Amino acid sequence: MTILPEPRHPDPADAPVLRWGVLGPGEIARDFTNALHRHTRQRVVAVGSRSEERAAAFAATHGVGRSYGSYEALVGDPEVDVVYVATPHSEHREHALLAIAAGKHVLVEKPLAATAREARDIVDAARAAGVFAMEAMWTRYLPQTDIVRQLLADGSLGEVRVVTADFGGHPPYDPSSRLWNPALAGGALLDLGVYVVSWAFFVLGEPASVIATGSLAPTGVDDQAALVLSTESGAQALLSTTLRAGTPSLASISGAEGRIELESPFWGPSGLRLHTADGAPAAVWRDPYGRPYRDGMSYEAAALARYVTDGLTESPLHSLDETVGTLAVIDEARRRLGAAGVG
Ligand SMILES: NC(=O)c1ccc[n+]([C@@H]2O[C@H](COP(=O)([O-])OP(=O)(O)OC[C@H]3O[C@@H](n4cnc5c(N)ncnc54)[C@H](OP(=O)(O)O)[C@@H]3O)[C@@H](O)[C@H]2O)c1
Repeated sequence: MTILPEPRHPDPADAPVLRWGVLGPGEIARDFTNALHRHTRQRVVAVGSRSEERAAAFAATHGVGRSYGSYEALVGDPEVDVVYVATPHSEHREHALLAIAAGKHVLVEKPLAATAREARDIVDAARAAGVFAMEAMWTRYLPQTDIVRQLLADGSLGEVRVVTADFGGHPPYDPSSRLWNPALAGGALLDLGVYVVSWAFFVLGEPASVIATGSLAPTGVDDQAALVLSTESGAQALLSTTLRAGTPSLASISGAEGRIELESPFWGPSGLRLHTADGAPAAVWRDPYGRPYRDGMSYEAAALARYVTDGLTESPLHSLDETVGTLAVIDEARRRLGAAGVG
């Protein structure tokens, strides 16, 4: 069997401590706060909601010291270092700009914004203000992803030709919910597809061409899409996303000398297998760290705390320009499908 490289991820609990403010206390804000408090020394010290009651309820549940009935009040708290923007996609631009204008570092939930143009506004504002900004693409910061990073860097796979990834779920159809409502920038591509497109960028970089096919929900958002992204050299990423069926959430990278198969879910803590060029199993790795599912968000938070402490203004593992590029591909795919809201 081949010896796999060790993931080079420091323990999230060792990262320097930042004071976090949660903006938009919904489902993911709950899971993010739990991940932070269970696995890191990062602390959510304040929460802002459009409703004082919701902010107070979140604060009471999570042991958060200060709660605000407006986002403006949250970002104005001088004892918040970094704001975690956890609102629907349509609101990311406005809320990230609000935090940046108040001089805060920002971690913005995926996708960074609803379109590449909106994402570029956030990037430009963060750069002008000299604050740190990052999309919460937590897959990039997982231990398994670092093993893949090293295998790609050391050429173990030879020339990579085919990358695959799928991410589909089956949420109930509710035209008013953030997943189905075009006014909240719903749709499969923005919500789940961002993971598979980001995966393709991680392995192959920016594609030279994009093919997309799919379907629309009655609200006009895309409810399913298949994409082929191709590079100049002819490598291809075959990607699929849907809101109409739970799919395996698998990913793979195939090269002339071997392939990696990510176990399910590839976007969260799981495992991987390395195969030789003739398909024989060469190595298996399973995540041993006990931070399952969304507790894996503790890695991205710890990474951000280290970057900010080191004086960086963007993630060395996921540049802001690449993040905007991912959204440009999603824009293009949504346009091809005729999805609502892409312009
Ligand atoms: N990393 C992951 O695994 C993961 C998983 C799920 C979702 N996400 C991302 O997290 C973000 C939020 O998703 P979620 O599932 O947490 O959504 P959610 O449960 O609906 O929460 C979003 C929160 O945003 C606030 N909000 C502000 N403007 C709003 C508006 N116009 N309509 C509705 N809510 C509004 C609301 O809080 P107040 O009104 O109280 O301020 C609401 O609770 C999205 O970017 C999503 O893609 C990431």
